[in-house]
Amino acid sequence: MDTKRILTGHRPTGPRHIGHLVGTLENWARLQDEYESFFLIADMHVLTTAYDQPDRIQDNIVDVLADWLAAGIDPRKSTLVLQSALMEHAQLSLLFSMMTTVARLERVPTYKDQIQQLDLNPSLGLLTYPVLQASDILIYKATAVPVGEDQMPHIELTREVARRFNSTYGDTFAEPEGLLISGEAARLPGIDNRTMHSSRGNTILLKDSPEETTAKIMQMYTDPKRIHATDPGTVEGNPVFIYHDVFNPDQDEVADFKKRYAAGTVGDVEVKRRLAEMLNAYLAPLRARRAELVQYPEELMAILYAGTEKARPVAQETLKEVQEKMGLHNRYFYDKEAVVKHIRKISEQNTFESLGLIP
Ligand code: TRP
Repeated sequence: MDTKRILTGHRPTGPRHIGHLVGTLENWARLQDEYESFFLIADMHVLTTAYDQPDRIQDNIVDVLADWLAAGIDPRKSTLVLQSALMEHAQLSLLFSMMTTVARLERVPTYKDQIQQLDLNPSLGLLTYPVLQASDILIYKATAVPVGEDQMPHIELTREVARRFNSTYGDTFAEPEGLLISGEAARLPGIDNRTMHSSRGNTILLKDSPEETTAKIMQMYTDPKRIHATDPGTVEGNPVFIYHDVFNPDQDEVADFKKRYAAGTVGDVEVKRRLAEMLNAYLAPLRARRAELVQYPEELMAILYAGTEKARPVAQETLKEVQEKMGLHNRYFYDKEAVVKHIRKISEQNTFESLGLIP
């Protein structure tokens, strides 16, 4: 197993935002040249919290695809997969669930957070979310998984499942390594200075127009203690400056803004106007590509279809190997040639009739 292969993905919960772009998608686009890459649209995972809201899933898939491709995910280099179209993911998940304890899953931090935050009565599907994710990864025998910090516990669980499987049934899976997406860009705050999250309306979307983007930047949270432009302001931890650091290529200008902001010699409006300009310039090429891509939703889906079909035999082969090792390899159902021969023989011997069985 010396192919370097990554699998990673997103749940199609809506259009991607700039946090996805600088934290994740730019990183994935780079990794494509180094790894054989699988990018998964995890639509079944969406249902773990919103099974009663199926309406938006299909539109969201097209949005996510357009965002991915506009950000440089290249279907000529990589394989794009729709999770629900490959039942092997779900089958493997069921098999892995046999070797994962409920107690272990109840300790997964994302699970604990979610039931606390959403105050919901967790479904079995939510509990086994990380088991399905382990299947997404291991069904392609991925060796690495680029993810953000929040997903690391799921990668740890995946490694445990691989280890448990290998020690029980013999060497089968590499323990995939989590490739942590790090740096400042990995933690871009939302425009309200809380964690960026689609459901909070505090994001700047890749599909937003320059005008919408500018309006959002102008409303951005800044130093709340600063009333007048002549008051000394706080730069440290101020989202306006975090964004400047990431999106303004003129770092001399940024340093100058910071100095003047701290001294009370530049207003928020000027700093934000410049940020909006820089951010719009940064996003312009991506937005142009995206605007073009969304004119072809059928073609986008065809790309996903083609990738899924390319992934299918890989997934089938792993599942077959797992079924064999777990004692589910019944030759009547797997070795067609032998079975046909066998049936022919017993019918020639009239065994069915003599036993009173109808073939
Ligand atoms: N849980 C991931 C998220 O919410 C999405 C995901 C599903 C995933 N399957 C995966 C990520 C496999 C990496 C590998 O972002």
